[in-house]
Amino acid sequence: MSFGKMPIANGFLTSDQIQNEYFFELAPAFCSYCGMFQLIEQPEQQKMFHENYAFFSSTSNYMQAHFKQFSEMVIKCVLADRQEPFVVELGSNDGIMLRNFKDAGIRHLGIEPSINVANVARLAGIKTLSEFFNVELADRIVGENGQADTILCANVMCHIPDLNSIAKGIKRLLKPDGMLMFEDPYLGDMIAKTSYDQIYDEHVFIFSATSVSWAFAQHGLELIDVLPQITHGGSMRYVLAPKNAQPVSSNVDELMQKEQKQGLHKTETYDQFRHKCETSRTSLIELLDSLKQKGQRVVGYGATSKSTTVNNYCDIGPEHIEFISDTTPIKQGKLTPGAHIPVKPYEAFKHNPPEYVLLYAWNHAVEILEKEKNFTVGGGKWITFVPRVEVFT
Ligand code: SAH
Ligand code: TMP
Repeated sequence: MSFGKMPIANGFLTSDQIQNEYFFELAPAFCSYCGMFQLIEQPEQQKMFHENYAFFSSTSNYMQAHFKQFSEMVIKCVLADRQEPFVVELGSNDGIMLRNFKDAGIRHLGIEPSINVANVARLAGIKTLSEFFNVELADRIVGENGQADTILCANVMCHIPDLNSIAKGIKRLLKPDGMLMFEDPYLGDMIAKTSYDQIYDEHVFIFSATSVSWAFAQHGLELIDVLPQITHGGSMRYVLAPKNAQPVSSNVDELMQKEQKQGLHKTETYDQFRHKCETSRTSLIELLDSLKQKGQRVVGYGATSKSTTVNNYCDIGPEHIEFISDTTPIKQGKLTPGAHIPVKPYEAFKHNPPEYVLLYAWNHAVEILEKEKNFTVGGGKWITFVPRVEVFT
């Protein structure tokens, strides 16, 4: 399946950079042997993660609360009886998770290659290395700090193409009685909701219990538990440990059976998914075209990474969306990747509300709709495209 030519999802740019904008073909594929759903081609990592990386994790209050809960669970259930435990997080960004370990006085290390976001964490006193995690780095960390009691990772594992090097590195870095916990957008949710915008350059894999279990088993790591999360539009937390070291929860088998029932192992499922994506695209562009003809103002909410897939796949541009409101300073005043819709600060939306808002950040709907009650009560209308294109008030 192909979504066509795509730019870097977080590659917000100025008008003088348009000429040199980089594009690649966004084409996912499904492997019926190992159950993996992944991109065929991914831009090189340095094009996506660098000193101007645009995604700062802490922009969402909800996600701050989520990672606080996650950390508290790890401290209570995994680290409680351990002597001077050591926690490593891969892709620690601005420190949204590790700040909880720092505050609890727990030895920690974040691995975060995007220097600008890593600097925010460092300023807050969180120990952070700005490098890409791989097997060589794992060996160095072990040499300097010893093995980790737990390795955490959220919305990162699915970003790293060389999964074998990562898994090998994790196996070496983890104590024999240690645990790896990572969470990522879940394939079952993406298929059920036709949330095709989960597919963009950074998300090289959309995992399921089946594919995670298979991939990590190659490196002696066993899937011992799975815990569904509502974050990022439907995610799964995977818990892994060295093989035979820990009991395996019945949740694992139950989820794998559910995946079979959902047909995640069948190619027909992905043919249907492609068809649903095409229908969704047609509905969304027809709706936006008709609003344009009626002279209605439409503004986007949240210049998310996911919105890059939606805009470029559906051919949505500034003629449809006046601007996208986003609270992240580094995105403001820039144009969105490929579609070149202006990104403006939240105040632009607040001071001159439009008739319609296209909710690109649908995964933060609870938080946003609560914040924008006045807009809705005042007659403002919302457009969503997940699980289907519709207007709600
Ligand atoms: N964990 C945060 C950040 C997710 S964004 C959250 O859930 O909000 C993905 C992060 O992974 C980015 O900050 C990116 O710089 C980082 N990253 C990408 N490749 C990596 C690698 N090989 N090793 C460690 N971090 C990586
Ligand atoms: P994400 O879906 O990848 O987490 O990105 C969410 C984007 O939406 C991020 O750029 C911040 C922005 N945002 C707002 O502008 N206002 C909000 O209230 C929220 C929750 C997010």
